[in-house]
Amino acid sequence: MDYKVADLTLADYGRMEIELAEHEMPGLMAMRERYGKEQPLKGARIAGSLHMTIQTAVLIETLVALGADVRWATCNIFSTQDHAAAAVVVGQGTQDAPAGTPVFAWKGETLAEYWDEAEKVFAFTDAEGNPAGPNVLLDDGGDITLLLHKGVEFEKAGVVPPQDSTDNEEFKEVLRVLARSVENDPQRWTTIAAGIKGVSEETTTGVLRLYERFKEGSLLFPAINVNDSVTKSKFDNKYGCRHSLVDGINRATDVMIGGKVAVVCGYGDVGKGSAESLRGQGARVIVTEIDPICALQAAMDGYEVRRLESVIDTADIFVTTTGNFDIIRSEHFEQMKHQAIVGNIGHFDNEIDMAGLAKIPGVVKQEIKPQVHQWVFPDGKKIIVLSEGRLLNLGNATGHPSFVMSNSFTNQVLAQIDLFTKADQYELGVHVLPKHLDEEVARLHLDALGVELTELTKEQAAYLGVDVAGPYKSDHYRY
Ligand code: NAI
Repeated sequence: MDYKVADLTLADYGRMEIELAEHEMPGLMAMRERYGKEQPLKGARIAGSLHMTIQTAVLIETLVALGADVRWATCNIFSTQDHAAAAVVVGQGTQDAPAGTPVFAWKGETLAEYWDEAEKVFAFTDAEGNPAGPNVLLDDGGDITLLLHKGVEFEKAGVVPPQDSTDNEEFKEVLRVLARSVENDPQRWTTIAAGIKGVSEETTTGVLRLYERFKEGSLLFPAINVNDSVTKSKFDNKYGCRHSLVDGINRATDVMIGGKVAVVCGYGDVGKGSAESLRGQGARVIVTEIDPICALQAAMDGYEVRRLESVIDTADIFVTTTGNFDIIRSEHFEQMKHQAIVGNIGHFDNEIDMAGLAKIPGVVKQEIKPQVHQWVFPDGKKIIVLSEGRLLNLGNATGHPSFVMSNSFTNQVLAQIDLFTKADQYELGVHVLPKHLDEEVARLHLDALGVELTELTKEQAAYLGVDVAGPYKSDHYRY
């Protein structure tokens, strides 16, 4: 088996934590029970790119229990939990003879390593041992979807632009990887794309990229938008961040949050969870928004809503949650207080202009510990930046807890089964899972919390115009 992880001796520790997580992931365990015998993913070759955490290990092993062949990379250079990666690779085997699933991920990859490993999830072999591509993708943020689409684009054009054709350090790596592979096999990505039944996408930012691709006519296969299952975005993005945002700030800095002024940029699902998280610690929270509806929500939830510029020189903690770019820029850093803490919990690192920060004359970067840096200004002022501007809840802590990820990942498993077994029913486009499956995911998590669900009578159901067994809401209901 080929794989690349930090240290296989961490596998026993990883296995124990996977077993703890399984208890907290009733949705995924129900998938194993319900579909284990039927093996709906037999023949599926799933290329996955998603934070390689303990919770993801339970997802991977669920996909395998349903019959799939899986190869996995992380979707962020800092988010891998090395013990989780080791345990997945070792599987039922030993450290000397691993027998699990190939994983290509470790905490603290360089950008070059990240894109080299991302490419490896495409390198399956079929039952006869011949090279084969994946037939389904499972993506978080859209990086492997991007690699494949760009590969096809460049093969069609017959040329990969040189690395110096872009200023973007990350895209330079994409071009390097594609140039190498297109040189070896000028039809590689086109052949792989032809065999793909679809992709299921985990997060807001990846979904945005898919809709853009579909709109411009470049989407190559159907996609399932897992993020917009209610049991994903209204749970993981909100309650998950409510847990893991302060966890990240605490592990990174141990600063007392109570009494501090914290600014949360963006009040979507992630912003709502983040603001509540900081308020729960006693911070005085200020929100920034561009959308009047979300701004009004924040105000009515009791937060002050201001422009960043109005509070830049008085706040202690800044967190970006927008999924947008250039939110905190060099002029903002220059005005911040000494020891201000700056972090991002949105998917990509471009919410904070790290390149702009590095270009401020005389500013020096010092590492306090991995993923925690202070930037020292010529006048002695220091600004603390978490995870180099990448998502801090996974870079500085261990991301969301298992229970909430069980909701997200049960949607992922259902999406993978649908794409693999019913691909012909999905037109080219971006789809959400039907509401009865969304309700089913929630239902699978009620017992664990001791929830008593009230049942509709037949008459009540008729009065509301729904079925006793659901779905209970119309598609336009917003929760
Ligand atoms: P969302 O679309 O619900 O919320 C983003 C909010 O930011 C919107 O309300 C928007 O109006 C606002 N916004 C946009 N530009 C702004 C600006 N210049 N200033 C202030 N506000 C602005 O998206 P969601 O689901 O909250 O996701 C946000 C990001 O977090 C995405 O990149 C997503 O992929 C990522 N994410 C990260 C997770 C994590 O564990 N770190 C978990 C889930 C999502």
